[in-house]
Amino acid sequence: TYVVTENCIMCKYTDCVEVCPVDCFYEGENTLVIHPDECIDCGVCEPECPADAIRPDTEPGMETWVEFNRKYAELWPVITRKKDPMPGYQEMDGQAGKLEKYFS
Ligand code: SF4
Ligand code: F3S
Repeated sequence: TYVVTENCIMCKYTDCVEVCPVDCFYEGENTLVIHPDECIDCGVCEPECPADAIRPDTEPGMETWVEFNRKYAELWPVITRKKDPMPGYQEMDGQAGKLEKYFS
């Protein structure tokens, strides 16, 4: 599976959702997630993210993100259409500590 990671938080460009063939992106207030059981591992979303936030779970250290994506994909509604990024997304893109700040 692919997962959405920290740099999506407070940016939410949403380019990713337009290309997913199985519509497995889910939207929360501050970030998106991918449902790990629905993702077919096609990889087309990864290069679409301007924030470089989408990763294959085969990369080291992705366990936390698989759990994060699974947890919230069960709770949040599906998103299939691109929308405007979040206000202030330029400043938030690349900031460290977004997971702790916005999800604790
Ligand atoms: Fe969707 Fe493919 Fe990205 Fe998985 S890898 S979330 S199936 S676009
Ligand atoms: Fe987030 Fe990148 Fe998609 S910032 S909404 S994962 S395009």
